[in-house]
Amino acid sequence: MNNSTKHRVLALLEQQRDKYLSGQAIAAQLQLSRNAVWKAIKQLQSEGHSITAVQNRGYCLANASDILSVAGIAAHLAQPCHVHIHSNLESTNQTAKQLAVAGAQHGTIVVTNEQTAGRGRYTRSFASPAGGIYFSMILQPNYSVPTLVTAHAAVAVCQAVEQLCGLQPTIKWVNDVLLGNKKLCGILTEAITDFETGQISWIVVGIGINFTQTPHEHAACLFPHGEPTVTRNAIIAEIVNHLLTPPPQRELLAAYELHLSTLGETVRMRDELDILGKAIAIDENAALLVRRPSGEIITLNSGEVSIVTL
Ligand code: BTN
Repeated sequence: MNNSTKHRVLALLEQQRDKYLSGQAIAAQLQLSRNAVWKAIKQLQSEGHSITAVQNRGYCLANASDILSVAGIAAHLAQPCHVHIHSNLESTNQTAKQLAVAGAQHGTIVVTNEQTAGRGRYTRSFASPAGGIYFSMILQPNYSVPTLVTAHAAVAVCQAVEQLCGLQPTIKWVNDVLLGNKKLCGILTEAITDFETGQISWIVVGIGINFTQTPHEHAACLFPHGEPTVTRNAIIAEIVNHLLTPPPQRELLAAYELHLSTLGETVRMRDELDILGKAIAIDENAALLVRRPSGEIITLNSGEVSIVTL
């Protein structure tokens, strides 16, 4: 069984989710024998795709079937991009950086079902149990400063979650996505710099979203109860669609500010205990303006803040 036959059969079923397609129709459309179609279906079923086979009706990919796949993501993409799927990786950011250095194209994504050494900011680890959403995207630098790239990724996640899950996430500066006051999604943006020119040649944006499980009590997930109403493939594709169409800076900042829950809060800068004050605004680069008790206004360009309850 060659992989491309399996992929084509799955792609066809993805286009008609929850509908029956006869073996004959699939065979005719893909110019395969019915036996080859049957073999592909068996293979897909053994990989966990929920495909029912009913005599005289054919094959049907269940709406709830949620195995990460190239065909599943491609079915929701607005423009084609290279998709690498793994069942298990140390870290999608690490693999994406290797691919970028090896010449991968803008828009390439690396997706995995589970990470064994998921990485967070500040050398933290990122708990990545099987069944979550973990992916990294390789992008050519599209905004002038890294904070804007990171802000764009946070807005992309919020918009995709609003559209597909009907939830209202917010952003804690600079790019933690929250549901209520718990963290739903972490984003790790890394740059690959050209040694000779000192210019950023690639950006890798890594996104981790808790899907049906929360790794700890301070975390939220998209579907804590019952069945998910949307697949991980569809969520990944929707975020990718947003990332591939970066809005003009002014529009991005408006969308970012709309989602930002940090404004008005008293914040403390991580590792800088004396930097404490009220978050009052963001500037044109999505840097955070903080008013200290002395009245002095300081600009935080990057880093991490915690909200202080007084
Ligand atoms: C953070 O909250 O500190 C950032 C977490 C980023 C996690 C994602 S999961 C996909 C990608 N691969 C990684 O190793 N990290 C990012």
